[in-house]
Amino acid sequence: MPCTCVVGLQWGDEAKGKIVDLLTDSHDFVVRYNGGANAGHTVVCNGQTFKLSLLPTGVLRPKVQAVIGNGVVVYPPRFLEEVSNLRQAGVAIGANLVVSDRAHVIFPYHLEEERLNEGGTGKAIGTTGRGIGPCYQDKVGRQFAIRLGEMLHPDHLHERLVLIVERKNRLLRALSSEARQFDADSIYQDYLACMEQIRPHVADTSRLLHEALGKGQGILFEAAQGTLLDVDHGTYPYVTSSNSSTAGVWSGSGVPARKLDRIVGVIKAYSTRVGRGPFPTELDDGPDGIGERIRRTGREYGTVTGRPRRCGWFDAVATRYSAALNDADELAVMLLDVLSGLPEVRIAIAYELDGRRVDHFPTDAFVLERCRPVYETLPGWRLDISAARRLADLPAAARRYVERLGELLGRPVTIISVGPDREQTILAK
Ligand code: GDP
Ligand code: IMO
Ligand code: MG
Repeated sequence: MPCTCVVGLQWGDEAKGKIVDLLTDSHDFVVRYNGGANAGHTVVCNGQTFKLSLLPTGVLRPKVQAVIGNGVVVYPPRFLEEVSNLRQAGVAIGANLVVSDRAHVIFPYHLEEERLNEGGTGKAIGTTGRGIGPCYQDKVGRQFAIRLGEMLHPDHLHERLVLIVERKNRLLRALSSEARQFDADSIYQDYLACMEQIRPHVADTSRLLHEALGKGQGILFEAAQGTLLDVDHGTYPYVTSSNSSTAGVWSGSGVPARKLDRIVGVIKAYSTRVGRGPFPTELDDGPDGIGERIRRTGREYGTVTGRPRRCGWFDAVATRYSAALNDADELAVMLLDVLSGLPEVRIAIAYELDGRRVDHFPTDAFVLERCRPVYETLPGWRLDISAARRLADLPAAARRYVERLGELLGRPVTIISVGPDREQTILAK
């Protein structure tokens, strides 16, 4: 049985959820290894739409074990809310969902810290406001963090919270005289109540996954965010606070990277980005422009925050970089239908920086900010392609466009998506 990773090669929202759902049946486990409720993964199945934020999309299938790995940061109220919403939608959730006892926990003071950091300084990153950054900061800082497993020991938890909350209150007050202040006892009571319900799901998931490997079972890793938002390899500092590339699999699940047999790089047929940060191919061309047209046709609004996503042409410089970084074996090209009807389509094949042509992806965001795209223009296609199910059903120009993406990234395109539904998929092998 294979070990597969589905990873986004852009700035997130590449439609990873659809691909994970598509590949779930051939695996026994689906594992989230990074991020938290900042993710928004959409799965459309038999006309029903599910939006998963903190939970792995595998939780939708009763025969699959869904795992939240140690690299994920967990906000307990959100965990319970999502479980409850899914149950209301008829999804059975019980022993099929486990969460790592090593996962770090997000507390209300993390949300307040993020609100103050994003609001006050003019250095906003445009985060999702889910407490992700401050929780990872505490994780790496070590002294003032709490892991999920610790929450199962009430006396220990109380002791930790008394120490941490007192310090957090002082820090928050130093950031702003208006800062919210917190009460350790009340957080303790709230979280203890949450843990009564979460307790049955908590496990040593690394051990579980190692046992699965020993039995030859298949594991599917579901990345959150995209490689260009990876804290080490993305457009720093306009990134998230975890390794959203395949680099996070090992640290965030306990499964050694060399166990991965198959890495599927997911790309949109164009580019989007939510939040701030450089975006060379952005089409900021007004209400009648192509950027707005893509936004409307692709319904490009954030799943988590509802913010309009910034839209632009496909960037082969950025994605060649991320495809190499992940060593993607193959590509899934998503939302190809959104480009239908455009007279021509463009791909950035290089950048121009200070009058020179640049073929590599720059390290620094402030340098990338100054890069202008060098475009290759291809003919567009008029036909609606959302009913295409085989390569031969696509107009020649659409086929050529996809082929060109594969050539530029140096990887085969194995999946083409022409609509949100599971059925609207072309297997291009
Ligand atoms: P993720 O975060 O990478 O899982 O992606 P999101 O779920 O945030 O965003 C992808 C959006 O595109 C979702 O609303 C999907 O239902 C939708 N979608 C997926 N594939 C296609 C496709 O091929 N065409 C169109 N038009 N929409 C798609
Ligand atoms: P999925 O899994 C797109 C962006 C935020 C912001 C930056 C940091 O659905 O692809 P954070 O809250 O993580 O500290 O915000 O990262 N961001 C995403 N953008 N898709 C996502 O997830 C994202 N998760 C975070 O908009 O720019
Ligand atoms: Mg998303």
